[in-house]
Amino acid sequence: MDHFNYRDGVLYAEQTSLAVLANVHGTPLYVYSRATIERHWHAFNNAAGSRDHLVCYAVKANSNLAVLNVLARLGSGFDIVSGGELARVLEAGGDPAKVVFSGVGKTRAEISEALQAGIYCFNVESEPELERISDIAVSLNKVAPISLRINPDIDAKTHPYISTGLKENKFGIPFERALACYQHAAQLPGITIHGVDCHIGSQLTELAPFIEAVDKLLALIDALAKVGITIKHLDVGGGLGVTYDNEHPPEPAAYAQVLNERLGERDLTLLFEPGRAIMANAGVLLTGVEYLKVGESKNFALVDAAMNDLIRPSLYGAWQSIVPVVANSQAVMREYDVVGPVCETGDFLGKSRQLAIAPGDVLAVRSAGAYGFVMSSNYNSRPRAAEVMVDGEQHVVVRERESRQSLWAGEQLLPGDVDAD
Ligand code: LLP
Repeated sequence: MDHFNYRDGVLYAEQTSLAVLANVHGTPLYVYSRATIERHWHAFNNAAGSRDHLVCYAVKANSNLAVLNVLARLGSGFDIVSGGELARVLEAGGDPAKVVFSGVGKTRAEISEALQAGIYCFNVESEPELERISDIAVSLNKVAPISLRINPDIDAKTHPYISTGLKENKFGIPFERALACYQHAAQLPGITIHGVDCHIGSQLTELAPFIEAVDKLLALIDALAKVGITIKHLDVGGGLGVTYDNEHPPEPAAYAQVLNERLGERDLTLLFEPGRAIMANAGVLLTGVEYLKVGESKNFALVDAAMNDLIRPSLYGAWQSIVPVVANSQAVMREYDVVGPVCETGDFLGKSRQLAIAPGDVLAVRSAGAYGFVMSSNYNSRPRAAEVMVDGEQHVVVRERESRQSLWAGEQLLPGDVDAD
């Protein structure tokens, strides 16, 4: 459930008209709903019931400081994958003691920053990383809390680019190596073992792959107990899907109930790392219609947002709903490919969409709050869109539209006479 609804033919975010926002701030424009973000976070936080748990929002889904700050105020934890994300969490007022650090390529500098900040846990993805973390911790006179991210070799049945729990993927430690690797970790001077972690993929719409993975991890946890290694938490990663079209992913409560059943009497804290499930349907991308190219075999609606603003359709063939912000009763209903101005055939936001629109109208691309702005770029020298957070009748520009000058900030002309001879 989200807080984007039509009132008298105009799309609103909470009590704020999106037509007004597009008018005041221009397009393309990302708009987020605070009430929706909070609602989705509470759905996760309440799902675990009386079991100890921590919701670690996956910062990569949307790392705007205002988004992180809304979640920090609720007491959220955070799942980070870089030093940059750690810096954002701290800047937004997040509690480092609730941060888990995932990612296959943690640098020495990132590990040491995370140790200095006092994060909750490193999700370790390889044996060399384990040794590196131990060495750095010893040199800083610290002990690093760790989980091993186990790759359970399970098909998440999602898009191959966002499937991460198969043997052929680069993520995690192979299940067969897990026990030996934990025994090795237990010997390392800079390491304290905290948890077991996995993340098998994103946009999962069924529970079965999650259950299969958790059952494997619980068997591992029981085997570890037998060799004297006590696991305190189970981190099930992110990956719970959302409704883009007509998918029916399980609710967080149903998901957590099944997890609780599987965990049974075991004294384990549950960690979740949801990104998309919190943010996707808490945001829209507003875009203005520039031209309609009506042809014999195909019609194109050329809009002012492009693949540089929202790359999911181009990159994954992802389907996201596209709706008019204000119903246009004068316009003819036609089938359009909704495309941007970038010079690539793959630059589209949606294909074969039934729309009654005219130039000057504003469209909303729904479900754009996760993996939207964060994956945007300046391709074709296009300044990135502004971002707005709605809170009831109020709104705040939480990131300014980029300026022309910002496009070449940090660039440098060659010194002296640059004419070639
Ligand atoms: N934890 C880890 C270790 C992850 O790698 C991810 C996502 C998450 C949590 C959060 O997963 P979520 O709850 O959002 O599914 N750009 C792609 C999605 C990439 C997901 C990468 N990892 C997309 O737009 O569909």
